[in-house]
Amino acid sequence: MKLEKEYVENAKKNAALEAVKNVKNGFVIGLGSGSTVAYAAEELGKRIKTEKLHVLAVPTSHQSFMLSVKNGIPTTTFEENPTLDLTIDGADQIDEKLNLIKGMGGALTREKIVAAASKKLIIIADERKAVKTLGENKQAVPIEVVPFATQFVIRKIATFGGKPKIREGSGKVGPVITDNGNFLIDADFGLIRNPAELEKKLKAVPGVVETGLFVGMTDTVYLGTREGVKKIERKE
Ligand code: 5RP
Repeated sequence: MKLEKEYVENAKKNAALEAVKNVKNGFVIGLGSGSTVAYAAEELGKRIKTEKLHVLAVPTSHQSFMLSVKNGIPTTTFEENPTLDLTIDGADQIDEKLNLIKGMGGALTREKIVAAASKKLIIIADERKAVKTLGENKQAVPIEVVPFATQFVIRKIATFGGKPKIREGSGKVGPVITDNGNFLIDADFGLIRNPAELEKKLKAVPGVVETGLFVGMTDTVYLGTREGVKKIERKE
């Protein structure tokens, strides 16, 4: 499907606007990372100003912290607020069961921690992200690794049938360094028919910090489409 840039940006923004309607006065929220979340941060900032909403956010990356500051969203930490009412985040792929591949923005570890600490996970995306099966269109699974373990993890991933590649930076030579001081491996596994099983195998490899497979975590997706925003709830 070929969608022009302006349409895609509108679809992302519309999905974000719908998601932010779920934020209520007094909520402590997780704020994800990425370009779609930037629209949510902007909208939340507006609501805080105009409705005098009291909301605190736990940011999931330096980007999301900076978005919070820019949009006047007060931030907090897990130390102060270990349970979150809601997390709003983006995704790189969403399957029919609302399992996700995340982490093309490199913030998967904190995003997964925040999602796990939330009573509800809302995902916002444009319709290009929706697929039948994760791994379609050669979408790789981002995996955060302790630098020391990189070559060991790469060899293990190959034995699981994956094609691993260390993520290289742009604007800097060498590997991307995550907000946690680690490396990222992007691994193409082809079609991922059983994401829970793959997740379990990857997490059992020493040196793997976290994977971009979010299995059974999403409650609601707001998907920006040509026909408007579709709200999709996870079926139990
Ligand atoms: C960052 C992520 C992002 O949520 C994901 O990459 C989607 O980003 P965008 O909204 O820019 O397409 O997982 O780690």
